[in-house]
Amino acid sequence: MSAIIRLENVTKTYPMGEVEVHALRGLNLEVPQGQFVVLLGPSGSGKTTTLNLIGGLDRPTEGKVVVEGEDIARLNDRRLTQYRAAKVGFVFQFFNLIPTLTAAENIAFALELVTRDRKAIQERTAALLALVGLANRGNHFPSQLSGGEQQRVAIARALANRPSIVLADEPTGNLDVETGRQVLQALRDLNRQEGVTVVLVTHNTAIAPLADRVVRLHNGTVASDEHNPHPAPASALNW
Ligand SMILES: Nc1ncnc2c1ncn2[C@@H]1O[C@H](COP(=O)(O)OP(=O)(O)O)[C@@H](O)[C@H]1O
Ligand SMILES: [Mg+2]
Repeated sequence: MSAIIRLENVTKTYPMGEVEVHALRGLNLEVPQGQFVVLLGPSGSGKTTTLNLIGGLDRPTEGKVVVEGEDIARLNDRRLTQYRAAKVGFVFQFFNLIPTLTAAENIAFALELVTRDRKAIQERTAALLALVGLANRGNHFPSQLSGGEQQRVAIARALANRPSIVLADEPTGNLDVETGRQVLQALRDLNRQEGVTVVLVTHNTAIAPLADRVVRLHNGTVASDEHNPHPAPASALNW
């Protein structure tokens, strides 16, 4: 299997007044297409920085970030924006839904960025709501949904334009255990059903058994990298 994501000797240094913060110090990582990877590490280990570089939200100080054969660090801002819209779906800890739009409208909004075909938008929105178990909640506003339901809408929205990669940063960080399990299962199902590559970042070691592979970060480099031949269902996770 060829790698859909390849980070080569990536460093990221943030200037902080007189000093520099070395967020990443020579990170190497290859992710094959369709893999469900958990990036695990304590706060400050460089997880979010890594995700932001893969997602084209930021650029490395040194090194390469190659996605589907293209070094995205070399793209100009306009092409980087296109890259994000076409290839990447983001899921965040605090859901980031638009409060004045219904669940269905939040998903449709993402689709409207790339198509005007009303029928296609409606069909895809309905299919995505069903995929995340919210077929009968499309007309609810975020404030009328539980945290877990909101996060499942966010996941449906991230998947809307059939990205090749979904990047999830502490997606259960704001949820109770049972709700967190439902969200993780929704992500795992979408990974299997749509073949989308998932990179999930967390400090929560209890989530690791869900993954095909667990990469531990420490001080901005890979500390360990283990494959998991028998991923656990989300229902078996506990924290
Ligand atoms: N925009 C920034 N400016 C300065 N320092 C930053 C910035 N973003 C992250 N850092 C620092 O880089 C290191 C890694 O951060 P981060 O990738 O957010 O870690 P994690 O997600 O694992 O908690 C931390 O020391 C953090 O304080
Ligand atoms: Mg983080």
